[in-house]
Amino acid sequence: MLRLLQNIGQLATCPADNPQDDAGLVNDAALLIEYGQVAWAGPRDQLPDLPGDIATHDCDGALVVPGLIDCHTHLCFGGWRGDEFALRLAGASYQEIAAQGGGILSTVRHTRETRSEDLEDKARHILDDMLALGVTTVEAKSGYGLDLEQELRQLEIYRKLDAEHVIDVVPTVLGAHALPPEFADNRDAYVDMLCLELLPEVAERGLARFCDAFVEQGAFTLEEGRRVLQTARELGLGLKLHADQLSDGGGAALAAELGAVSAEHLEYADADAMDDLARAGTVAVSLPLASMYLREPYIPARQLMTHGVRVAVATDFNPGSAPSFHLPLALTLACINQRMTPEEALMGATAIAARALSAEGHIGSLTEGCQADLAVLDAMDLNHWLYHFRANACREVFKAGWPQALSPAAHDLP
Ligand code: NIG
Ligand code: FE
Repeated sequence: MLRLLQNIGQLATCPADNPQDDAGLVNDAALLIEYGQVAWAGPRDQLPDLPGDIATHDCDGALVVPGLIDCHTHLCFGGWRGDEFALRLAGASYQEIAAQGGGILSTVRHTRETRSEDLEDKARHILDDMLALGVTTVEAKSGYGLDLEQELRQLEIYRKLDAEHVIDVVPTVLGAHALPPEFADNRDAYVDMLCLELLPEVAERGLARFCDAFVEQGAFTLEEGRRVLQTARELGLGLKLHADQLSDGGGAALAAELGAVSAEHLEYADADAMDDLARAGTVAVSLPLASMYLREPYIPARQLMTHGVRVAVATDFNPGSAPSFHLPLALTLACINQRMTPEEALMGATAIAARALSAEGHIGSLTEGCQADLAVLDAMDLNHWLYHFRANACREVFKAGWPQALSPAAHDLP
């Protein structure tokens, strides 16, 4: 079945192989969809001859971009941490709060206590809101269970949400997120549990596509991260790494050494590590909302791109360091504070985010043969969309060629 989107004011095709600063913009464009994929995209006056009976859709001069990809979130969790927001504003640091049993471990307590149906409902609400913003694929990490049963439960919830929701949910196992209190005196036993029990079970049941680890003072050491990720690699999982978020701990170099698809955060990564990432083809995932909320430095995106590293942009949505899933806001912040151009930022949440999920050329681009996931935005062009920040500029979303009903959640769930 053919569907023609016409009267597109500006189309961003975001070809997978383009340099980051070229989002493949076409003014006065049209786009043809066949069997859920892009069959043709380009200037309206070059549209090939078509049969007379095809379905047409008038975009009314709007901006059309690939469905946005949020390639780094901690989607499923119990409770919130508004109290810590107030403590940080009063001067406490993220690490001080964590050292006193708050932070990630506070969310672990809440998550463990919350019924699966309630965790699921809350995450589903959030996915509804994300879809309404134009997001069509979301990577989602575990890491608030921190024992075998609870980590598997979080990943099972992601499997269910992926099956039931329009958004594709790409699961990542992050057992190495924090040391759970039961293992406070025996770090090695926890890492053993991850490598000998959790990861083999996750791989066996196909519950995750990627494995991530938080390498940082107060979380896991480089050696522990290396052991977890090497084990995951042997089990056939792709690798990601929370690296150099709060200090330069050598995480970026480790991600490159292990051939990770992405290294995330990188607020404190040094120039040598940037060369390593470029050589390894590892994507740098920038998380400007986390920089904003924690008042940490923004990632040196210009320097990374100059070194030849591709820079994705994601939300890091979680109840602590980044309690917002507003990916368009993250893009505007990436422009202002990471000095990315609107084209670079958009590529970072489409084609390059797809690369951070090993899905480039399949999603994140509106070129021939790619899945027709797209957002129709109420803006005359890309510059205007990212400059005139609005609560939501998204008018319509298509997933695999089909228009979707958008129903943002009416309220926040506890
Ligand atoms: O990416 N850095 C580690 N993990 C999250 C924060 C999780 C939390 O605070 O609950 C992050 O910022
Ligand atoms: Fe994160």
